This record gives sequence, structure tokens and C-alpha cells, in this order.
Amino acid sequence: MSKSRPGPFQHGVASGDPTSEALILWTRVTAEDPAVEVSWVLGRDRELLHVVASGSAVATSEHDHTVNIDVRGLDPGTRYFYRFHALGAESPVGRTQTLPAGDHLRIAVCACARYMSGYFNAYARIADREDLDFVLHLGDYIYEYGNDERGPRGWLVREVEPPHECITLADYRARYAQYRRDPDVARLHARHPLIATVDDHEFCNDTWRDGAGKHDPVRDGPWHDRKAAALRAWREWMPVRVPDPRDPSRIYRSFEIGSLAHLILIDGRTQRDRQTSDPRVMDDPERTILGPEQFAWFVDQLRASNARWRLVANGVMIGQVYSEFMPEDIGEPLSELGVLTSREHGPEPDQWDGYTAERDRVFRALIELGLGNTVFLSGDVHSSWAVELHRDHREKTDPPLAVEFVTTSVTSENLDEHLGTSARTESLHVERRVIEENPHIRWAELDSHGYFVLDVTPERAQADWYYVEVVGRTPGERLAAMWAVRSGESRLRAAERPTG
Ligand SMILES: [Fe+2]
Repeated sequence: MSKSRPGPFQHGVASGDPTSEALILWTRVTAEDPAVEVSWVLGRDRELLHVVASGSAVATSEHDHTVNIDVRGLDPGTRYFYRFHALGAESPVGRTQTLPAGDHLRIAVCACARYMSGYFNAYARIADREDLDFVLHLGDYIYEYGNDERGPRGWLVREVEPPHECITLADYRARYAQYRRDPDVARLHARHPLIATVDDHEFCNDTWRDGAGKHDPVRDGPWHDRKAAALRAWREWMPVRVPDPRDPSRIYRSFEIGSLAHLILIDGRTQRDRQTSDPRVMDDPERTILGPEQFAWFVDQLRASNARWRLVANGVMIGQVYSEFMPEDIGEPLSELGVLTSREHGPEPDQWDGYTAERDRVFRALIELGLGNTVFLSGDVHSSWAVELHRDHREKTDPPLAVEFVTTSVTSENLDEHLGTSARTESLHVERRVIEENPHIRWAELDSHGYFVLDVTPERAQADWYYVEVVGRTPGERLAAMWAVRSGESRLRAAERPTG
């Protein structure tokens, strides 16, 4: 595949936010005209000889010539193909499917794709798969950094466009456009529907409601202008549905996957209070990571859920990483990785560890509603974890109330890269000590890049982690670990064989 296709469809096609009867179809037209007519067809066969739905839309410069179509009236658990037509040219054919209605769900879960840090081999391997219902992206789909913001070892595998940090709408649009011209990103989207939430780098490092760690209003202008620009570009470029037309800023939403699973996507990023390392503020019972409206919605979703499983798509890790007793030999590297703060290896203020009161409200709700079979799917920390969630992780008799599977990064740096050591050397000791000191953490792997496949049946949910290289566009992947939770247990067990 050439790096950029000539013609109007240089940014490929995408689909997303599948339900049992609807799908978003997406493309972008490269054109000078402010308004371009785009037609589309969708059918059951790859050649699109038997069209089951079709229509047209106008790609306008107001929306960066992106097109987002909500096709309804489709059949559940059905594979479709689609194609766009504009300016006398045809787009590549995309493959997609509606959510299954039966008793099996199989998805890939990924996060944190920093373009300058390497190649998206994880996306290529996910694209190769024939057996997925959709891809769940937990955020940091783009990174806003410029070329001067190098990785921890001063790496720059690939240069970004624009070369500077994204601040304006034009900057964010150009960054999405560059990602979509990457052949692995293009193929990922052309092969599977995507369901995405956001993390901070869709906006700016360490975003909170009214600012971001890296945002300087004097240098970068008003935060709310930047936040609005970043969100607008996300809406334009991602194959997502607006869940509430009255509130275009709302990202959180949910999906019913038959009676098997209820997928609840939360936005722990754009409504949160400011991160703090001050323990007096951190433990304030009023502090929020979801914001009051979303929190109430989340509990309503849990209360109304009568599916066998609840899958919570959660940007930042909810399991406790911080403990009062954190020996120096693991405190230091965990601070380097960014799961503890560098100040005295305290709780990392950007994760749920920095929002303990709200985490406890969530955990209490799960207990009070008597909900078992809840699985948090998390990203952000550029490393892999399997965690049993307790209200009090230090209390050995406190039974787990849910489990958490954390996906590593597609490319973003992790522990070996932060420490400047060879993969699977220094980190092994850290991983072993983390598990020794934190029995609720059943497994951690802090060096590798990749994704996991989540396979859900009425009897169990299992995550299989697959790892890839990031330097160069390379084939292959390796299966690293398999952890499962049985229905009714909320405990993790090492699985004997991969699913699928
Ligand atoms: Fe990230």
C-alpha cells in the first residue's frame, strides 16, 4: 500500500459505534470546493453487487470535509461492506459489522498510539484478525505533542505533522489526517468498526475540566478554545455517534450487546477536577473524576443493566497501584512509568488513585446494586495489568467486587524505555515485587507494546495479551498472558490456553 493514495480518499474509510441495528460510516474527501457531494453504498458482499442501503451526504469545509453517516435498520451480528463515491472516484471498500445478539463477544482493546514513538504494528495485527466484533479504543488515539517533545530516551522514530504541538483546530485536524494516512491505521479502520473513548492526549497532557498540565494559557491561549477545537476535530475525524444532540460535548455513552454484555464507555477526562498531589485536597469527598452528571448516569446505567456482563471502558486505571508501603526498589521505577507520582512515590494524581472518594462511590454502588460480573477495561499507563478490585485492597478479607484488565500502549514508551534498559531485564524484578506487595494485582508486564483480545461468553470473560515490536513495520506478534474471570466470581485465574 502506498503511503498516500492519490485522489479524494487519501484518508481511507472507517466505521464505528455499532449497535445491533446501526453503524456509523466515515470518510473524508480531499477537495478544494467548500462542499462536495459524496454518495455511499452498503451491502453484504465485498463486491457490493447487492446493496442493502445507500445514500448521499455533503462533505463541507466546515467539518474538514469529513462525512459521518448513521446507517440504521441493519441486522444484528451481520458483516457488511461499504464504499463511498465522490468527484468521480471510488473509496477503498471497508468491512464492518453490527453488534452480535448471541452469546459470544470478541473484541480487541487498545490505547496510546504515539506516532513519533514507533510503528503501529499492533493495529496491523488487529487488522489481520478475522474474528473480532469491533475494536475498543481507550484513548490517546492521537498525541498532541510536537517533534520537540521527544520520548524519555530522546527518541524520534517518526516526525509528526504539524511539527509543533497541536493547539488550534487546524493543528488537531492535521494530526488526525496524518494518522489516517498511516497504512496500519487505514487498514485497522477499513477492517473493523471502532468504539472509542478519549484520554488526555486527544486534548493535551494531563487534561482536566478547566485546564491541562501542559497547557499554558499565556503561551497557548484560552483553555476552553483549545479543548473545544480538540473535541471538534475528534468528532469530525472519529467514526463516533453524538450520544445526546442537546449536549455535543458529551462523550460517555453505552451499548447493549444482546443479553450478554452492556458496554459502558466513561469519560474520565473532560469533566474531572484538577489533579493534585496535596493529600488534603486529594481525599476531599467532593472531588470528582466523572463529574456529577456523568456519575449519576453511570450509576443509572449499572442499575438498569440486566446483561450477564458489564464491561466498563475506562481511560485511566481504576485499580489501586499506590500503597502506603512502597519500597524504594519499586517506588522509583513505578514513578518513572508514571503510575506513582515522583514526589515520594505517592498516588499518581492523574489516575483513579488521585480520586479516591469517587472510586469508593463507584465501588460502593457496585456492592449496593449487588452487581457481579463487572470488568473494567483500562489504558493510559503503557503497561499491562490484571487486577482484582477491592474497596480496601490492603484488607486481605475484603472480597473482590470486580476485575480490571489494562491494555498496554500501541507504541507509547513504557518501563524499559524510560529506564534505558533492555526489554525484560530490570523490569522483571519490579513486576515481581509489585505483585508480592500488592496481592490484588495478579499480573503486571511493564515493558511491551501491543493490545489484548477480550473474549466474552456467558460463562467467563478472558483477556489474552499480544505483543509486537514498534521499531520498524514488522510482522508477527507473541501471546504473552491470559487471564480470565468466571461468571459470578470477580476473581482472576490464569487461563490455560488462548481464546479463539
Ligand atoms: Fe498514553
